[in-house]
Amino acid sequence: MKALHVELLETCRGYLAEEGMQGLSDVCQLLKSEAPRYDWVGFYWMNTPQKELFLGPFAGAPTDHVRIPFGVGICGQVAVSGAPLRVDDVAQSENYLACSIETRSELVLPITANGELVGQLDIDSHTLNAFTDDDVHFCELLCALVASVWEPQTPA
Ligand code: SME
Repeated sequence: MKALHVELLETCRGYLAEEGMQGLSDVCQLLKSEAPRYDWVGFYWMNTPQKELFLGPFAGAPTDHVRIPFGVGICGQVAVSGAPLRVDDVAQSENYLACSIETRSELVLPITANGELVGQLDIDSHTLNAFTDDDVHFCELLCALVASVWEPQTPA
């Protein structure tokens, strides 16, 4: 793994160990400022009875997409499949919700806690093909860290 990713994971581990779920805002800010090409970083949580995602902590431009129905957009697809989704060019995606007109590529990873899909990490980039296999691996490890401190969230 890249030295930067090792360092970022250690810092995130510290935030989460000290602050639990409250540390996720710091995680978003850190990734947005330190990880190259990460221009918007946020978490969405599952509201399974309502079949929709709701926005949690994020860093980057405010988004209209504070609630996303399951199946709609990249995030909504991951809510249904439970599998990571990397979109190298959002303009080529037929099921995509634009958060910003500047976004060119997107990476969404599921967060599974106690065997249940509870949310996802969503990263947008202003760069085409921004996310490498290294990024996917790094984000998977980060999602596992988040799962280790997971506590149920309620929509605002
Ligand atoms: N682009 C996402 C919507 C969320 S914003 O990126 C913050 C999607 O298609 O699901």
